[in-house]
Amino acid sequence: MEDEEGPEYGKPDFVLLDQVTMEDFMRNLQLRFLKGRIYTYIGEVLVSVNPYQELPLYGPEAIARYQGRELYERPPHLYAVANAAYRAMKRRARDTCIVISGESGAGKTEASKHIMQYIAAVTNPSQRAEVERVKDVLLKSTCVLEAFGNARTNRNHNSSRFGKYMDINFDFKGDPIGGHIHSYLLEKSRVLKQHVGERNFHAFYQLLRGCDDQKLRELHLERNPALYNFTRQGAGLNMGVSDGLDSDERSHGVVKEAMRVIGFSPEEVHSVHRILAAILHLGNIEFVETEENGLAVAEEALVGHVAELTATPRDLVLRCLLARTVASGGRELIEKGHTVAEASYARDACAKAVYQRLFEWVVNRINGIMEPRGRDPRRDGKDTVIGVLDIYGFEVFPVNSFEQFCINYCNEKLQQLFIQLILKQEQEEYQREGIAWQSVDYFNNDPIVELVERPHRGILAVLDEACSTAGPITDGIFLQTLDTHHRHHPHYSSRQLCPTDKTMEFGRDFRIKHYAGNVTYCVEGFIDKNRDSLFQDFKRLLYNSSDPTLRAMWPDGQQDITEVTKRPLTAGTLFKNSMVALVENLASKEPFYVRCIKPNEDKVPKRLDQDRCRHQVEYLGLLENVRVRRAGFASRQPYPRFLLRYKMTCEYTWPNHLLGSDRAAVSALLDQHGLQGDVAFGHSKLFIRSPRTLVTLEQSRARLIPIIVLLLQKAWRGTLARWHCRRLRAVYTIMRCFRRHKVRTYLAELQRRFQAARQPPLYGRDLEWPLPPAVLQPFQDTCHVLFCRWRARQLVKNIPPSDMAQIKAKVAAMGALQGLRQDWGCQRAWAQDYLSSGADNPGASGLFAQRLKSLREKDGFGAVLFSSHVRKVNRFHKSRDRALLLTDRHLYKLEPGRQYRVMRAVPLDAVTGLSVTSGRDQLVVLHARGQDDLVVCLHRSQPPLDNRIGELVGVLAAHCQGEGRTLEVRVSDCVPLSQRGVRRLVSVEPRPEQPEPDFRCSRGKFTLLWPGR
Ligand SMILES: Nc1ncnc2c1ncn2[C@@H]1O[C@H](COP(=O)(O)OP(=O)(O)O)[C@@H](O)[C@H]1O
Ligand SMILES: [Mg+2]
Repeated sequence: MEDEEGPEYGKPDFVLLDQVTMEDFMRNLQLRFLKGRIYTYIGEVLVSVNPYQELPLYGPEAIARYQGRELYERPPHLYAVANAAYRAMKRRARDTCIVISGESGAGKTEASKHIMQYIAAVTNPSQRAEVERVKDVLLKSTCVLEAFGNARTNRNHNSSRFGKYMDINFDFKGDPIGGHIHSYLLEKSRVLKQHVGERNFHAFYQLLRGCDDQKLRELHLERNPALYNFTRQGAGLNMGVSDGLDSDERSHGVVKEAMRVIGFSPEEVHSVHRILAAILHLGNIEFVETEENGLAVAEEALVGHVAELTATPRDLVLRCLLARTVASGGRELIEKGHTVAEASYARDACAKAVYQRLFEWVVNRINGIMEPRGRDPRRDGKDTVIGVLDIYGFEVFPVNSFEQFCINYCNEKLQQLFIQLILKQEQEEYQREGIAWQSVDYFNNDPIVELVERPHRGILAVLDEACSTAGPITDGIFLQTLDTHHRHHPHYSSRQLCPTDKTMEFGRDFRIKHYAGNVTYCVEGFIDKNRDSLFQDFKRLLYNSSDPTLRAMWPDGQQDITEVTKRPLTAGTLFKNSMVALVENLASKEPFYVRCIKPNEDKVPKRLDQDRCRHQVEYLGLLENVRVRRAGFASRQPYPRFLLRYKMTCEYTWPNHLLGSDRAAVSALLDQHGLQGDVAFGHSKLFIRSPRTLVTLEQSRARLIPIIVLLLQKAWRGTLARWHCRRLRAVYTIMRCFRRHKVRTYLAELQRRFQAARQPPLYGRDLEWPLPPAVLQPFQDTCHVLFCRWRARQLVKNIPPSDMAQIKAKVAAMGALQGLRQDWGCQRAWAQDYLSSGADNPGASGLFAQRLKSLREKDGFGAVLFSSHVRKVNRFHKSRDRALLLTDRHLYKLEPGRQYRVMRAVPLDAVTGLSVTSGRDQLVVLHARGQDDLVVCLHRSQPPLDNRIGELVGVLAAHCQGEGRTLEVRVSDCVPLSQRGVRRLVSVEPRPEQPEPDFRCSRGKFTLLWPGR
């Protein structure tokens, strides 16, 4: 702040004055004011002087400079106060309020607008549509309310003629989500009459000057305010640039647009205009006494206009103006004609009431639109509220009536609250907490408030009493009663009690010594204004209007006239109740004060009227405020709360202290920061003298918060990860157990099934294997192999060694034929050397044995693999009988007719393969290297057509296996062969009638004619 506020601008906070005297205070105020520094603090209270000129203090850049700053970091400003209230609300989730007080024209309404602008500008960074809408309505509502509730007075050209308290609701993120406006005591008598130089409410002039000709004709109006009784007084005055305001013409459009944006329907806006016009017409109605039929309306056309504009029957309007319905004893209704005076009174009462209801309807309509919707505290968190109070300031006029009385009473109440919160409570707390303290005297206005609002004897109670008494109670009698009750009250006087005082008139005036000065009130009209009565006929008339908007303003017109109703509360009591509620509401919030000062009466810039200002400073109690503040402390907090907020800034207190008491912990914390000198320790609270200390603490807290957030995040993430991990582990454990379970069940099942496997002769051949879990598939495969081996072993081990060769041959045959030949003589005993057998070769076995002997000597073979008679066919298509001998060395073709002479010998390793058919025939083609294949059919066996092909294939294949080479065995019903390069096919044809198998050739193809099937 120092760089922006040099010493030449005086002290930015009155607390910094060297001496607290009125002179010093005024000097500082004036110095700052003349240098354009209209704002000055007293601690957290802002003193504002109306500059009456545009100053370059506002707007987006200025707002940005104050946003997020502490109160004293920048020069004093409304924005700083708004920001402080906003931050207090966000930081501590506390409701706050900003109370703006000061005289009429001191700048309260302007201040409240700046505050609203600030709040609107700094909220809703995420641009949520709903929040934008709420902000829009909040900002636009001011302009509409001003049109209907403000008027030009001698003190302020845009004077608020109603009190306004606006609540703004925020969600937990600090964005506005709704609002509510309370309005207080509209000065409705202004509708009828205004002081010289003043005007009626802006709305009337805006309508007359702003709306287009067509519309004006519809409303039966002329564009001249001087033509209407209610606007004649201020007809010559327009609002203009000199006031920093829009002209009536322009305002009309602006207000209409604002109403549209807020959400008023075009019909509603039209209704509002019609109601305003009706009021103007109503004001021009005059009554005359006629000879023949008593009272009459001077200009009947006006009644028609009113009826049309209010959408009510014309004759009913006329009847309501001229007479009233009275319920006499026996529920009988009689009509009682008015006198001229009564009729005029009724007309005025009606005009006032219509305007008031219109105003209240506008406020309620705006409230309906701004109401926070669909909020559920459990889901959305608690709403917080900032209240802004802009209420009429203290008023002293040459003649003061009931309205001034109420307004000044209101100011007394607010002053009382200010005293309580700022002066009294503070001092009492210092005492309670045992802080050394020099008491500061201040003016306590409790007696004045008592004088007004005390039950039974207070001025309002006496006034109510006068209103409720039947019979002709006059204002004079009311005054006398006051005199008797308050004869000795130090703040009350009247001419009766003080005969020498010529400033008051006998039987008419009384005076109250307000905190802000003496005000003389004229009692005339007090009873009437307090009673605020309106004949029931009007209420019913307007309730029955066919205009829904107007009808909605008069719900009480529904009552039947004969219904005996309780006397409605008087205006005074209603006002008192609303004030009590307001003060209670404000007291429950954390208050921020803006004290507005009006520098001069003439609304001119750069002039500070010393006496006027001194007076205001005096009655606002600003000097006392400075004194208390200087002696006092900027902040206080209970020790536990202080620790909770700042404990992270000190190693002894984070995360929890081990010291004897919270107080000791706080002391340790402050020691570490070196802030001991700026605080005082109360019994239960810590008092901090300067805001700077608080800011130092806040700043170090703000530095640590991200670290703590990280810590919490870390811990939480860790927890989440651990949870996840534990869950995963559980999953794996379950999976493991399940797998084990499956494996166990499988193994148990396997064991159960294979119990029977040892049983001969099948050795578990037909056992079915259980379906294994996937993981055990390889295991099962291995097992299967093992089992097969074992089973084979069981089968093989009983076979005598002499049969082994035969078994091996059979196995080889089975492998070589691969199941392609159905019948291959497996069941038979394989004798192999059939030509040596007497049974098989009865005639020539001896000859064959001799030949075998000589061949063994010659070729030295080891064993005979196979021998048989065969029928062969050669490449010249010649079929012959021959014999086939297969030793472990050679394949011989022998001639049985010539003692088995060798016709051809082929080394066995030149035999590369065999081809057989799938049938029962005994055809075999022996493929030899050199493409000289041998095509034969085994025959002349015992028994005939014995099936020996399998045996030939088996022994040869087994022998080749033993030698480590493979024999190619083909099974085909049409065998290709090659004889010395000639390619042929050979197939089999069954011929049951054929005695012996034989070959036939046709077209290069051999066919074996086979006697069997
Ligand atoms: N901060 C300001 N800057 C410029 N002019 C101001 C400022 N505050 C008040 N005024 C002027 O003073 C007039 C009266 O202010 P207003 O807020 O209506 O007074 P109040 O509400 O206290 O009766 C405004 O119309 C405006 O011309
Ligand atoms: Mg105002």
